[in-house]
Amino acid sequence: MNNNIVILGMQWGDEGKGKIVDLLTSHVNYVVRYQGGHNAGHTLVVNGKKTILHLIPSGILHPDIIGIIGNGVVVSIPNLIKEISILKNINVSLENRLIISSACSLVLDYHIKLDLVREKFLGSNSIGTTGRGIGPAYEDKISRRSLRIGDLLYDQELFIFNLKNNVDYYNHLISFYDKSIYIDFDLIKIEMISYKDYIIDLVKDTTQILYESNNKKQKIIFEGAQGTFLDIDHGTYPYVTSSNTTSASACIGSGFGIKNIDYILGVSKLYSTRVGNGPFVTEIFDEISDILCSKGNEFGSTTGRKRRIGWLDLVMLRKAIIINSLSGLCFTKLDVLDGLKYIKICIFYEKISDGTRLSVIPTGYINYNNIRPIYKILPGWNEDTSGIKLFSSLPSNAKSYLNYIKKLLNISIDIISTGPDRDHVIILNELFSS
Ligand code: GDP
Ligand code: IMO
Ligand code: MG
Repeated sequence: MNNNIVILGMQWGDEGKGKIVDLLTSHVNYVVRYQGGHNAGHTLVVNGKKTILHLIPSGILHPDIIGIIGNGVVVSIPNLIKEISILKNINVSLENRLIISSACSLVLDYHIKLDLVREKFLGSNSIGTTGRGIGPAYEDKISRRSLRIGDLLYDQELFIFNLKNNVDYYNHLISFYDKSIYIDFDLIKIEMISYKDYIIDLVKDTTQILYESNNKKQKIIFEGAQGTFLDIDHGTYPYVTSSNTTSASACIGSGFGIKNIDYILGVSKLYSTRVGNGPFVTEIFDEISDILCSKGNEFGSTTGRKRRIGWLDLVMLRKAIIINSLSGLCFTKLDVLDGLKYIKICIFYEKISDGTRLSVIPTGYINYNNIRPIYKILPGWNEDTSGIKLFSSLPSNAKSYLNYIKKLLNISIDIISTGPDRDHVIILNELFSS
């Protein structure tokens, strides 16, 4: 049985990771975020009540667990404070239940400003970011210019010195795009220092805590943000986010030992969505797209943007299984397919120029103009599957559809989600012993 599980997205984010993390949290002691920032929007629905989390780990509604924000996450302190207070307002106390690494890089106001002006400047070539400053914050990290939580708390003099340099740098950079924007060093300094008292008690050595917990055989979920094809290396570059979203990131972004990960669970919708720009081979624009969008409520949890819709793409999923070293899959949103006459699954890509077929999307350069999806078309079902908890209760066409996908992917399907609520779920494999 497993102690430590990574749960991550197989597509372009919004697969339903939050729901699945919340569901499995009843078995664990810790839930750890390890990359991304408040660009994430993870939705939990418990007894019809919806909560959307951006930075705080999705297990937090379970009163006995501890949420950890690992070193790989870029943290906007004002957004963290806002999220804590939203949770307090719904009577979720975080007292002694939220711990943050002092090695987290900070997201500051100038990152957000640069993100926004740069997107505007790029016009039709923009990435379609969430506008949360995530790209610039990770750029600072890689350029060794980040201000980190530990600097703010424990070396204020150095923090202020580096902040001044960064404000000068960003004023210079942003003026290239928009001369009317100016970052005021004094204001940002006062603001940042005012956060110190608020977060000081939350900051601890998260790596050591996880190490010791693992030695005591306590259980941990590592919660991915975004999805495999938004990964900075393996995604649809440059239409990606600025962190590694694939499973190896769980160890890097938390300092947890790679040998101690027992299971890697990938979450995928039974169709595809993407927010923002970039290639999308199975994208559809017909009436089925509208049906899936409205039934699946496909609007971004962070920005409210309408998500683009397409059929399930096994060429991408096969790649996601490989690069994440996946142990098993969770499919979400089966209920959204109810009532469709037919359901398409992309089983190959075909090169238009010479008819050659690809079963796994290649790494690196791809000429998407030369690719078309080849579909298997399966019959749909009319029955309502929402909330179904047993595989045997599913309509026979739904069972055949899922069995067909399982056969083609040759991997365990552990969970099937049949609605947004925590208990709308078919568990095929228990991943934890109790
Ligand atoms: P995440 O970013 O991967 O956590 O996913 P989001 O929360 O951004 O988006 C997933 C959306 O689908 C949320 O609105 C969930 O409440 C909803 N959801 C998750 N699983 C299911 C499901 O099986 N059926 C339906 N209808 N909705 C689901
Ligand atoms: P969760 O964790 C879906 C997308 C943005 C854009 C690209 C880069 O809820 O699945 P960024 O702001 O990160 O620089 O934007 O990545 N994106 C997401 N799409 N779900 C997310 O998170 C996303 N986080 C970023 O739309 O295309
Ligand atoms: Mg989301």
